[in-house]
Amino acid sequence: MAVVTGGTRGIGFGIVKELYADGYQVACLGRTLNETAAQLVASSQGNVRFIASDLGSTEKIQASLDEVMAVFGRIDVLVNNAGVAPKERLDLLETTPESFDFVVNTNLKGTFFMTQKAANLMLQQQDRPVPPKIINIASMSSYTSSVNRGEYCISKAGISMVTTLFADRLAEQGILVYEIRPGIIKTDMTAKVSEKYDRLINDGLLPIRRWGTPEDIAAAVSLLCSPKMTYSTGDVINVDGGFHLRRL
Ligand SMILES: NC(=O)c1ccc[n+]([C@@H]2O[C@H](COP(=O)([O-])OP(=O)(O)OC[C@H]3O[C@@H](n4cnc5c(N)ncnc54)[C@H](OP(=O)(O)O)[C@@H]3O)[C@@H](O)[C@H]2O)c1
Repeated sequence: MAVVTGGTRGIGFGIVKELYADGYQVACLGRTLNETAAQLVASSQGNVRFIASDLGSTEKIQASLDEVMAVFGRIDVLVNNAGVAPKERLDLLETTPESFDFVVNTNLKGTFFMTQKAANLMLQQQDRPVPPKIINIASMSSYTSSVNRGEYCISKAGISMVTTLFADRLAEQGILVYEIRPGIIKTDMTAKVSEKYDRLINDGLLPIRRWGTPEDIAAAVSLLCSPKMTYSTGDVINVDGGFHLRRL
């Protein structure tokens, strides 16, 4: 059984669909249920359930996991996907404490406590046919500077350390932790800046000259969930069209 945060749209919805197709029961966590996700829930015969959650509140994180346990009774996979961009892109010299708190609280603090609480539940499960997995959706922004959204970059760099820390802490107990770093992916998050990215991609920014899709990220999640992956933890997969390569 898999828990996907921010599963109602964008990359998260792609991950929910892929894991359901792989045979998982899926808890699709989000703040509100939209029509597309509701259709999947309705057609899944109880195998995909929407559970209300808000990463901005540790109480709501706990309440959503309580509900996951009440409905499904266990967690085999957690995908920490939910995240926000700053409401307004502001230069480092102008950004506000409110924007910093909004982005870092949701992306970093939310991911940290969701991971901590889900890991504690996984640790209580004696019956583990395959190693439980935690997969963090970080970003190319974990290591790439964008000076007009520094708080987002900081939150994603922090998530990369969350991956390292929990991979280290949980290895001995057989829980494996991975990170995916998406590149430029066609979703609501990038809609406002799509012309800029169209131009950059056309000009050769990415070795693989196209936008990424939620399905590209979902496929990588599916691979990491394979029971064949048993002797790796803390690893990062870049799903970015080769953006991370240094080129001359
Ligand atoms: N798109 C990209 O190019 C790109 C690149 C690198 C990394 N990423 C990362 O990939 C993840 C998904 O991004 P996306 O492009 O799919 O974004 P998106 O289309 O904006 O979707 C974001 C998802 O996160 C949920 N969410 C936001 N705030 C939340 C909160 N406080 N509590 C619970 N859920 C919340 C949203 O739920 P609601 O419907 O309730 O708002 C939505 O399901 C994010 O972590 C993002 O940083 C994206």
